Amino acid sequence: MSNQQPVKELRVWDLPVRVFHWTLVLAIIGAFISNQAGIEYFTYHLWCGYTVVVLVSFRILWGVVGTYHARFWNFVRGPIHTMRYGMDALRGKDAHYTGHNPLGALMVLLLLTTLLVQGVTGLFGNDEIINFGPLYGYISNDLSLKLTSLHRNLFNWIMGAVALHILAVVAHRVYKKENLVRAMFTGRKPAAQVSSVVEIRSSRIWLALILLAAVSGALAWLVMHAPQPEAVSFL
Ligand code: HEM
Ligand code: HEM
Repeated sequence: MSNQQPVKELRVWDLPVRVFHWTLVLAIIGAFISNQAGIEYFTYHLWCGYTVVVLVSFRILWGVVGTYHARFWNFVRGPIHTMRYGMDALRGKDAHYTGHNPLGALMVLLLLTTLLVQGVTGLFGNDEIINFGPLYGYISNDLSLKLTSLHRNLFNWIMGAVALHILAVVAHRVYKKENLVRAMFTGRKPAAQVSSVVEIRSSRIWLALILLAAVSGALAWLVMHAPQPEAVSFL
């Protein structure tokens, strides 16, 4: 007779994905607050912005070389599959997914892309008073102003997407009794609420640290080698 205990929880989200998620949330809140606080707090805005750029770039690479459920091709589905999932969800009979469900996957792609654009436009932006993004010197003032305008507007759209994202998480809790937030902290999901038994064995922490160092180094190199902005008068 086997003395193996039945598996109750499966490891789904690796440590890098979890740290990425909650640090990203904090960095975005920080970027928002430091902007609201006034132009003299720009340095904080800048550092929160760097954090977002590094985290999102890291997550995109992790979507290629990370652990099973972090990899894009293991959760991004085609339009037909995604639509069928959406229709089933509306009828209240959608399936459980071990990683992101197909609609969740779309939201992940949307958030990662828009946040990358938000961060990058910030790097080239300026506030028409005294603050310049560190990469401003690479482009003309006209282009910088256009990117800053995109940077200001896009943030509202990102907040809309984040509101939908949080609503979806709450809906999972209420209608499907799935506690996704807990899983994003612990990395584990109840075996009864997953569709397959693909469990991750390690978080590949060393690979994650190397990628993080490479992405941070690349951004630091770009910032340090950026041309100094020429004097511009906004008056
Ligand atoms: C290193 C990257 C970033 C730099 C250099 C940067 C720079 C700037 C600059 C120059 C402005 C214009 C300030 C003004 O005219 O009021 C601005 C505004 C803003 N930024 Fe950033 N930013 C960066 C990243 C981010 C990120 C990642 C977020 C959020 C996800 C963000 C959110 C905002 C918001 C909410 C505003 C105010 C928009 C408004 O006026 O309504 N920024 N940023
Ligand atoms: C600024 C706000 C937020 C942003 C930009 C954001 C972004 C993201 C991203 C990019 C992912 C994909 C994670 C990955 O695969 O690496 C994700 C997943 C997730 N987020 Fe957020 N998030 C935000 C706020 C929140 C909040 C406040 C909660 C809690 C209520 C939350 C709960 C979750 C959960 C549970 C997942 C996993 C969903 C699943 O199981 O498919 N997020 N989020």
